[in-house]
Amino acid sequence: MSAPQRPVRLLFVCLGNICRSPTAEGVMRSIVLAEGLGGWIELDSAGTGSWHVGSPPDSRARAAAARRGVELTGTARQVDRGDFERFDLILAMDSSNLGELRAIAPVQLRGKVRLLREFDPDADGDLDVPDPYYGAAGGFEEVFDLVQAACGGLLEEIRAGRAP
Ligand code: 4NP
Repeated sequence: MSAPQRPVRLLFVCLGNICRSPTAEGVMRSIVLAEGLGGWIELDSAGTGSWHVGSPPDSRARAAAARRGVELTGTARQVDRGDFERFDLILAMDSSNLGELRAIAPVQLRGKVRLLREFDPDADGDLDVPDPYYGAAGGFEEVFDLVQAACGGLLEEIRAGRAP
């Protein structure tokens, strides 16, 4: 990767900011650090909703990530308008998150909002990362697998200069 002028800033967004988006942030951080790109990519996550603001990642999400050697950190926060200025790419976990983000984004910055799984080279059809909150425990493993594939693809696109 040629040295960019400044770090690329990525924001992962789901509904509650306690399951999917902290998983995506943690997975991407582990990939970025493993690739020695820690100084070039800045990461954060947020939720469209405010119910869990201040909470750590869900214990089931933390357990699923820990089984794969990834630590989930941070506390939940809600997306705010400044995020659309601050971040280069805002990655929604599902189409509902995407719709909410596009609805609140300043119109000229709407193009920064994308579905995370658009970057999974093997994804086809439905590009949602399913909400695991009320589902079975296996849902958290599925979330991990889906975001891992998409984050790997996203980093390749950034390295190739095709994203953001
Ligand atoms: P997340 O999961 O959007 O992946 O963090 C959820 C967390 C909480 C709720 C829904 C989804 N909730 O309804 O409280």
